[in-house]
Amino acid sequence: NKGNYEHYMQKEIHEQPESLRTTMRGRLIRGGSCKAKTVLLGGLKDHLKTIRRSRRIVFIGCGTSYNAALAARPILEELSGIPVTMEIASDLLDRQGPIYREDTAVFVSQSGETADTLNALEYALENGALCVGITNTVGSAIARNTHCGVHINAGAEIGVASTKAYTSQIVVMAMLALAIGDDAISSQGRRETIIDGLCELPGKVREVLKLDQEMKDLAKLLIAEQSLLVFGRGYNYATALEGALKVKEVALMHSEGILAGEMKHGPLALVDENLPIVVIATRDACFSKQQSVIQQLHARKGRLIVMCSKGDSASVCVGGSCRVIEVPQVEDCLQPVINVVPLQLLAYHLTVLRGYNVDQPRNLAKSVTTQ
Ligand code: UD1
Ligand code: M6R
Repeated sequence: NKGNYEHYMQKEIHEQPESLRTTMRGRLIRGGSCKAKTVLLGGLKDHLKTIRRSRRIVFIGCGTSYNAALAARPILEELSGIPVTMEIASDLLDRQGPIYREDTAVFVSQSGETADTLNALEYALENGALCVGITNTVGSAIARNTHCGVHINAGAEIGVASTKAYTSQIVVMAMLALAIGDDAISSQGRRETIIDGLCELPGKVREVLKLDQEMKDLAKLLIAEQSLLVFGRGYNYATALEGALKVKEVALMHSEGILAGEMKHGPLALVDENLPIVVIATRDACFSKQQSVIQQLHARKGRLIVMCSKGDSASVCVGGSCRVIEVPQVEDCLQPVINVVPLQLLAYHLTVLRGYNVDQPRNLAKSVTTQ
């Protein structure tokens, strides 16, 4: 049921304030001051000790689920102090990469039925790792076959392009980081700030959704382009990859997410006055580095669309020559949840304007159950 919406993708983008609330329901525990100060993930509470003792946490997934894990990696590293590595499920299997008994392997999958992810799970089980699932589908193969896990509870996702599952996956993995790091006194203040940030997140997502018309206008400008680059780094490297994945899979436009730190190692050669480039430059520890990236792209006459924190237009837009997308600022590790929304909206409007099928992009299936 699409309700008042024309497409499932549109409905699922706009219901993110609610889906995020459902994801967090009952999992943020309120302290005396009536503020949430700790997290409780029922599916993991008996396994946290084992996870804390593991030598490595390895995230395994495909497509958007992989990107969500990439977005959560920095906060998991910070709060757990455990090395976190990333595996695309098919690539882990192609290489038969090492997985050890001392590893915690986290399988991220909206459907819980993706063939590559399931095969990687079987492989990790054979190798004796603790296998944790993060899935949206109760009773799915991944939920059944992992040792433990967390349901993201985002509600059924129908559009082939994953949108609300992505933001709920990031929130669950941020809560996972909080739960694993729960015994460290030194980071208690940081954890409490993040928990406060989680409580405010649905409201901030509602705010960023107001950019809908602005993204439609931007889509009109980009309708006939061949390609769109998206530059990000740090917490928002994943946002660049995910924004580009949305644009290519539904709007059928070539798009590439680029790690801004790699700019001079190749991508800079592509920059001219025609190719549109989105640069994500919201406030965090990487902000000044992103400002310098913007200056260098500007010096090569790049056609820039800069995403920045509210009120930062003047500090990111050199000479006032670029288009700016201002988004609400939240805690750095949660910013990817906000920043992906304008890119989801952009991909949606580009698809509609270009006349393609939004909910069933050509050649794709919602759940990839074959290799
Ligand atoms: C559970 C109930 C929820 C109830 C809540 C009340 C279910 C599915 N969830 O939620 O309805 O409101 O208790 O306390 O009945 N699991 C895996 N692999 C996965 C995902 C989950 O093994 O990929 C396991 C978990 O370890 C857990 C169980 O499935 O044993 C349920 O997980 P989850 O729904 O996340 O647990 P709760 O949030 O506690
Ligand atoms: O169900 P899963 O999360 O395992 O699916 C993984 C990918 O197939 C999926 O995210 C795909 O990349 C989406 N179509 C992206 O929007």
